[in-house]
Amino acid sequence: MSNGLTTTGAAALAGQAAPPEIIVRVRNLIAGFAGKLIIKDLDLEVYRGEVLGCVGGSGTGKTVLTRTILGLVRKQSGLIEMFGNDLDSLSPREQRAIERRIGVMFQQGALFSGLTVKQNVEVPMREHLRLSARLCDELAMLKIELTGLDPDAANKYPSELSGGMTKRAALARALALDPELLFLDEPTSGLDPIGAAEFDELIATLQHTLGLTVFMVTHDLDSLYSICDRIVALADRKVIAAGPISAMLASEHPWLRAYFHGKRARRIESAVALQFREGSMKEADGGGSLPGTM
Ligand SMILES: Nc1ncnc2c1ncn2[C@@H]1O[C@H](COP(=O)(O)OP(=O)(O)O)[C@@H](O)[C@H]1O
Ligand SMILES: [Mg+2]
Repeated sequence: MSNGLTTTGAAALAGQAAPPEIIVRVRNLIAGFAGKLIIKDLDLEVYRGEVLGCVGGSGTGKTVLTRTILGLVRKQSGLIEMFGNDLDSLSPREQRAIERRIGVMFQQGALFSGLTVKQNVEVPMREHLRLSARLCDELAMLKIELTGLDPDAANKYPSELSGGMTKRAALARALALDPELLFLDEPTSGLDPIGAAEFDELIATLQHTLGLTVFMVTHDLDSLYSICDRIVALADRKVIAAGPISAMLASEHPWLRAYFHGKRARRIESAVALQFREGSMKEADGGGSLPGTM
């Protein structure tokens, strides 16, 4: 810009909120398998720095959508842009450069069963980075500890891990290349409610401290309430609603109404309301943070 201001700076000076930076843009996406269309005319955006939750009934195509965005399922048509690049127009070299900026945690963890946790975390490093074995080891241990695993877990095989440990190991592998953008497919499924809440907290902490953008498929209402900034809801092969939780609650779509106003949802809503009331009472008391939370 001629006045030396960035677009963001200029917007701030003009008193406007800067428009969010879109790091994934999907337009008119059509995808599926032989004779079976799963996604039709789907549009979505992921903004830098947000946790975007993706919800939808079982079998609506959340995993297929994620895999299509990642290029693991071939799309039939439509546009997928990542970091401003049309994925169709990349050279193999550019494609690898983009892959390095992305971390993925698949639905079932998908660790290599014949490799230890540490070796699993090192797989993307060996594929993309030229580092000495010692440096790889050190970095892998760092990722393992970052996800709250005991260092002893590093030398265990996937079959020796609990469900929660498997999720953490898969997350450590997803973080191996210090990604900017993380795709998580049902990260808390199969965990008990406490394990799931701890995992949500871990994702939120990592997202803040590492400045990550997260696209998270989930059907966990707790996760949607506690860590998602925005939500996209899938039904009828496309995105039927996108926005903060308030937009989901306000939607008249039958699936969204059933999902966000059903029996389980009401329990969570009242728990959130209670937490909110307790929080505002604490503030009114002049109470700051809880002991031990600083
Ligand atoms: N490799 C595949 N070949 C054919 N059909 C598939 C394949 N993977 C998924 N599907 C179908 O696509 C639909 C959406 O699946 P999926 O994306 O896994 O749903 P979910 O929303 O539960 O993640 C389902 O009907 C599923 O059977
Ligand atoms: Mg799925």
